[in-house]
Amino acid sequence: MTFNLPSLALRGTILRFAGSPFDMPPQEALQVEPDGLIIVENGLISAVGGYDTLVHTLPHEVPIVDHRGKLIGPGFIDTHVHYPQFGVMASYGEQLLSWLERYVFPEERRFAERTYAKEIADSFLDSLLGNGTTTAAVYCTVHPESVDAFFTASQERNTRMIAGKILMDRNAPDYLCDTAQDGYDDSRRLIEEWHGKGRQLYAVTPRFAPTSTEEQLALAGSLLDIAPDLFMQTHLLETRQEAQWVRTLFPQRSGYLDVYDHARLVRPRSIFGHAVHVTEQDLTRCAHAGCTLAHCPTSNAFLGSGTFRLFDALRSDRRVHVTLGTDIGGGNSLSMLRVMNDAYTAAQSHGTSLHPVQSYWLATAGAAKALGLETRIGRIEPGNEADLCIMDPMATPIMAQRAKRAESVSDLLFALSMLGDDRAIAATYIMGRRHSPHAR
Ligand code: GUN
Ligand code: ZN
Repeated sequence: MTFNLPSLALRGTILRFAGSPFDMPPQEALQVEPDGLIIVENGLISAVGGYDTLVHTLPHEVPIVDHRGKLIGPGFIDTHVHYPQFGVMASYGEQLLSWLERYVFPEERRFAERTYAKEIADSFLDSLLGNGTTTAAVYCTVHPESVDAFFTASQERNTRMIAGKILMDRNAPDYLCDTAQDGYDDSRRLIEEWHGKGRQLYAVTPRFAPTSTEEQLALAGSLLDIAPDLFMQTHLLETRQEAQWVRTLFPQRSGYLDVYDHARLVRPRSIFGHAVHVTEQDLTRCAHAGCTLAHCPTSNAFLGSGTFRLFDALRSDRRVHVTLGTDIGGGNSLSMLRVMNDAYTAAQSHGTSLHPVQSYWLATAGAAKALGLETRIGRIEPGNEADLCIMDPMATPIMAQRAKRAESVSDLLFALSMLGDDRAIAATYIMGRRHSPHAR
């Protein structure tokens, strides 16, 4: 599929980063261009700066889209989400393991059928983009069809997505289990078909330690040898009950993270969802390995799993990469603004305050950096892909009255994250093309 990649310019208040707000004062890390211009050529950002400076450099035929009064930032990056659970969001009354059995597994069974998988992938991606999220690390189901359907839907929209087939060869209903060898063979075929095709990237995806044999986890490690830039995603220490289960299933290992380490799965580009119950030893190991922890506070609150100690993970002497994820259907919103809100309240529960520039960084540039994608996405810088999210701080009457009192752009970002959701997303651009769900 080929795309006509547009050339255009966008005018508005531009949000950039001078560096990480965990390494410098957050107010200095955020660089605001109050009346700025982003010039996009063939889908890539070619220049960024003040409107008055740059407007003279624009050829006459290049259109300027006027987003004055709005904030123009990079598209959000959701680093942990299950597209097949789109239909079972907001399911009542269970905690993780019984919720999986009662709601998730029966729904995931339906993704053996490619037509159903494509239908859900289409509406999931349109909703994701409607929330300003342009890249996500996505779990499919055990069925290869679910992966083909998802990447096809992503190709049609030209989005940069990371996704993979779940590997699961035990402790799940028969209808959802593969075998260690079939899981390997199917994943290998999918990697060859999709990894690096257009903007698509593959993640080797063992669901979590309890649903894989040691043999399957070892083969997952071997899959990562196929290409150096493959991703790996799984769950880690989400609930205490699950952690106890892993101890009985893998008595020979020193802990849950060690199960993955033994299979060579703890490395850069590995994304571990949740990590609510990590120990100091785990954090030291993660910092050393350069892997990423995807903090999913909305899901942790919804399923009653506990609260991640964000500032502990980010301690400067052994800083771990942390990103944010919606984790639908464990999470009950696709909005990264809502996740920033819940990350704030989770940090508050530990007596720490997450600055709005810090949470915005985690949801954009920090995630790109953690995943090794910072030269492509996550920042508004020349050379990067023009995946952009336009936010309207006045989207609702309540937001408008709060925005009027904002003392700074970072205060405005705080209000957006506390009060905003998809209504605050005025537009989303994918490589410079404005997303509209009905006109692909
Ligand atoms: N642990 C294993 N599978 C899942 C899942 O689908 N969602 C969540 N939140 N945790 C999991
Ligand atoms: Zn999950």
